[in-house]
Parts: sequence; structure tokens; C-alpha cells
Amino acid sequence: MAGRIPQDFINDLVDRADIVEIISSRIQLKKAGREYKACCPFHGEKTPSFTVSPDKGFYHCFGCGAHGTVVGFLMEHDRLEFVEAVEELASYYGQDVPRERSSYNTESPSGNAALYELLNKAAERYQAELRNDQAAIEYLKQRGLDGKTAADFRIGVGPAGWDFILKALGKTDTDRDNLLKAGLVTKNEENRVYDRFRGRIMFPIRDGRGRIIGFGGRVMDNSEPKYLNSPETPVFHKGRELYGLYEARQAVRNPERLLVVEGYMDVVALAHHGIRNAVATLGTATTPDHLRTLFRFTLEIVFCFDGDKAGRKAAWRALEMTLPELKEGRQVRFLFLEEGADPDSVVRDGGAAAFNERLAQSLPLSEYLIEHLKAETDLNSLDGQARLAELARPLLGAIPEGVYRELLLDRLAAEVGMPAERLGQHLGSGADAPPAPRRRSAQSAAPQPAEGGPKTLIRKAVCLALQHPEAIGGAQVPDGLFDLPNPGIALLNDLLQTAAENPDIRPARLAEDFADHPDGGTHLQTLLVQDLHLDPGANWQQEFEQTLVAILRQELERRIRSLSARPASSLSAAEKTELRELYGQLSGHHGAGS
Ligand code: UTP
Ligand code: MN
Repeated sequence: MAGRIPQDFINDLVDRADIVEIISSRIQLKKAGREYKACCPFHGEKTPSFTVSPDKGFYHCFGCGAHGTVVGFLMEHDRLEFVEAVEELASYYGQDVPRERSSYNTESPSGNAALYELLNKAAERYQAELRNDQAAIEYLKQRGLDGKTAADFRIGVGPAGWDFILKALGKTDTDRDNLLKAGLVTKNEENRVYDRFRGRIMFPIRDGRGRIIGFGGRVMDNSEPKYLNSPETPVFHKGRELYGLYEARQAVRNPERLLVVEGYMDVVALAHHGIRNAVATLGTATTPDHLRTLFRFTLEIVFCFDGDKAGRKAAWRALEMTLPELKEGRQVRFLFLEEGADPDSVVRDGGAAAFNERLAQSLPLSEYLIEHLKAETDLNSLDGQARLAELARPLLGAIPEGVYRELLLDRLAAEVGMPAERLGQHLGSGADAPPAPRRRSAQSAAPQPAEGGPKTLIRKAVCLALQHPEAIGGAQVPDGLFDLPNPGIALLNDLLQTAAENPDIRPARLAEDFADHPDGGTHLQTLLVQDLHLDPGANWQQEFEQTLVAILRQELERRIRSLSARPASSLSAAEKTELRELYGQLSGHHGAGS
């Protein structure tokens, strides 16, 4: 992997870039005073509310609230990752992107460019071939797919025979070399070169920018191996990629949740039934790389696994992999299908409704974790309780310090029937040791370094509001948020109003004006400079809105937990009604579907 791009270089590049020039090469801008106007490319509109300010180096849409620097625009408009947007901008100005030193360098971009081109041409050939291949068309039909879905995923067919791609794309020595490098052809011991994919349905695998980086090829009968995948190449790294992610993001740029399923066919079949937010690993276990990628685009991941033993095992591994990524506001759920079923068969038999019904019953990570631990221990015995604590210790320790971990500790304590404090001691001091009263262990269950960002969601929201007032004036606030009694909510409400009324207000001014606010105004100077640990090109409004939803969700869950922890007989009628309403509201935020 290449090293990091130095921040100074990025700052410099953004400062020097002509935002008007970059944007007007993509959409038509009209001069209006010192600014430029256009119909917003990010939402449908007839009268222009999208403005570009060359002085501020900013764009802003008064209609949908989209805004940002030139890098943000490239990310949003060209659907690029942050680094890709920086590269794009640099190449526009003929600059090489410097990298901080790293252990090894990938191929030069020019070398890779040839591979991307070849892979794309190969996909075109495979797609064209599918149109003539009645058997392949029949196969896909019998799997419930149609031409539209096949086209969306650029599915094709590699015909039987040895040299379909070789002949079509290997005209020169360089081409043949590159075909080998791209994994499209292979060589036997006698140095004979021939097509890797023969007689297979071809699933192109695309990276975040939609470039084809490799293929999965499926046989159309029961022969082995069922799938053949591209080998590791300079552009294809199996453990990092997610099949269907590009297609999912084409459908919804920042989906509320992403589903992780097991197979290519699951992704495609779900999409065919309108569930367009599914991705699959390429037959490997979920890696931290995968998780970080997914959490860049969504706050909720749902893992879908078979209900069989292998599926359960894979699910537990995914859970362990996920724990270090559990930061505030992020949700992880687990969906177990009955034995023998996969998402593909569920939608084929019962349509999207059947799948969404299962989805609505998926288990939150905390439930799954607790269920799993309970299944392994006998909570009626003291030994069993100690054992549960022992099993839970490394798991809780893997979660970053914060509210999530505390909530889970509370839940576990309730399950074991001991005070959270005592369970915490168990966790910290080793379950074998007698539960010595009040002994606080130095190496408590928190080996993880502190996150560094704001400590609570409300604080994060206040930071965002303060640091990016221009971004939050138009933010959508979930119903009921400002009715919450939590400290900081009133301050947030007032900040939001001021920002909405004064879109040009500067952060420093805002902090000053609110310094006397009774709801924590004195902290604002600190929050003004608090590092949010977010990409400098992040979409602030969206980040803010997602934080608001997460706050509400967390509070609903907290209240539900405290009510449902009590025996039903002790709840008043009003409390029962409240609980029902809370469930309703929560499912509004968890609702099934994409
Ligand atoms: P599945 O066997 O569940 O694949 O393997 P599938 O996509 O549902 O295929 P159908 O429904 O039988 O057509 C899950 C994933 O494991 C990888 C592929 O990525 C596949 O999508 N795999 C499986 C391989 O790489 N090679 C194989 O031989 C089998
Ligand atoms: Mn399948």
C-alpha cells in the first residue's frame, strides 16, 4: 500500500485549485455577482440554488444543503473516495501526489491504467458474448435473473475454448503480458498461454470507482471448482474488496445500512428484487479492512449468514472482527437464515417482503453476543456466572472505551444477575480470582487507547455544529430529538437555530455568542478546536444528521432497556404505553428494507 498523502500537500492543492474551473468542467455554471450559480447536481431542481464561491473556495446548495470544498465536490460528483479525489485534482494540475514513506510501493499508475483498460475490455467482450449464448441466458433465467440485472452488474459469459480473450485482446506482446498480469490468461508448464475463464458466467468485481479489477467466474453445471476468481494482481486484492459495493452506492450513495451476504449470487438476486444495499466478500472471511470500508458509507451493517454450523461460525468470527470498530452511533446486526436457505433463495421464493421480514428480526450485536455466551454457560451456578464473565472479558476489552461498552456491560450484568460494578471487577481482575470486593485492577477491561474524538454523541454533534455552522443550518432533525432531557440538547437546539438564521456565521463568533449558554456554553472554546477525527473532505451536514439520528436511537434504546429490565407486572399502564411507543419509534429508525 502506498503511504499517506501529506496533509500540507492536500491543503496547498485545495487552496490553489480553482473551484469554479473544476466544477464548471462538470456542470454549467452561470456568473451571479461574485459567485456562480447552477441547478444543483445533487438533487433535482428547476431553479438554481447551487452556488460556488471562488473567494471562499466553497460550493453550497441552499436546496439540499450539499456543500464543501473542491475535493468534496469531486467525491460527491464523481463518486470518488477522498484519496482518489485528491489524485484527480492533482492530476488536473499536472502534479504528482507525494506519499509519506511506506514499506513498499504499488505499481506505477500508468502500468495499472493498462490493466484497468484491459479488464474493462474483457468485461465488454464477456457481456457481448452473453447476448449470443443461449445456454448462458437460460442458466441466468433459471436462476431468476433478467437482462436488466445482468446489465447492472455487467454479468457476461466466458465461452468454452482456450483463446477467446487471448485472441480478442492479446494482439501484441505487451497486451499478452498485461493479460497475464491482469489474471485474464494463465500459463502452463510448457509456457502455453490460454484463457483463465472458460465456460463460466462472469461476474466483474469493481472497485469503489467502478473500475473492474477482477472477475469471479461460475460454472453452469455442478463441476468443480464452482467459482474461479481472479488471482491477486496489482489491482486486485481479494481480502480488501467487496462485491457489489460500487453497485450499491450507485443506487444509494450513503445507504442507511449495508448488508453483508456470502455469495455473488446473493448480492445479484437481492438487487434484482429491489434490495440494492447488499455486498459480499469474495469468498473470504470479513476483515477489518472490509469493516472500515463499510462504515465509511453507512452507520449500520447487517451480516446475513446461513443458520447452519458454518454460518454460525462465520458470524461469530465477524462479531469478533467488528468489536474494535464499534464506535458510537454505529450499529451491527446479525441475520440468521434457516438451514439450507440463503438470501438468494429467500427472495426467489418469497420476494423482497420475505427477506425484509427476516431482516426486521435480525439480532443486534449485543443480543447475539449475550445469547451466544449464555448458550455456553449455566447461569444458575456461580461457576457459570464466573465463566460468562471470563468469556466476556476479551470481547468487552476489544470494544473501544465508551458508551457502547458500558451499555453492554450493563446488559451482561443484568443477565448474570450481578451489579454491573461487580461484573466489571470480574472482567478486570480475571474471573478465576475470587470476586474481591472493591478491588480495582489497573489493567481493567480497557486495554484500548481512548478514541481521541468527542466522548459522547451529543458532544460530537455540538462540535460539528460549532465547527461547521454553514453545514448544519439546513440539517434535518429527527422528530423528538429536542424533547430529550439530556444535557447539551438545549444548547444544540439553540446552536442550530442560530446557524440556520445566520448561514455565514463564523465558528469563533458562534462559540463566543454562546459562551454564557446555561447548557454547557463554557465548554465551547474547547469544543471549537476538538479534533473530530474525520476526513477533511467529509460531508459535514450528513455527518451531523447521522449523529442526530444516532443520539435519538441511543436514547430510545436506553429508555427501552430501563423499562424492559423491570418485570412487566411492575410497569404502570402509562409506562407500558410508552414502551410500546418506544418500540414503534425505534423500528422507525431500524425499519426493514434498504
Ligand atoms: P456460495 O457457494 O454460497 O456461492 O459461495 P453463491 O454465490 O451463493 O453461488 P450459487 O448460489 O451456488 O450460484 C459463497 C462465495 O464463496 C466464494 C464466492 O465468492 C461465492 O460467491 N466461492 C465459492 C469461491 O470463491 N469458490 C468456490 O468454489 C465457491
Ligand atoms: Mn447461493
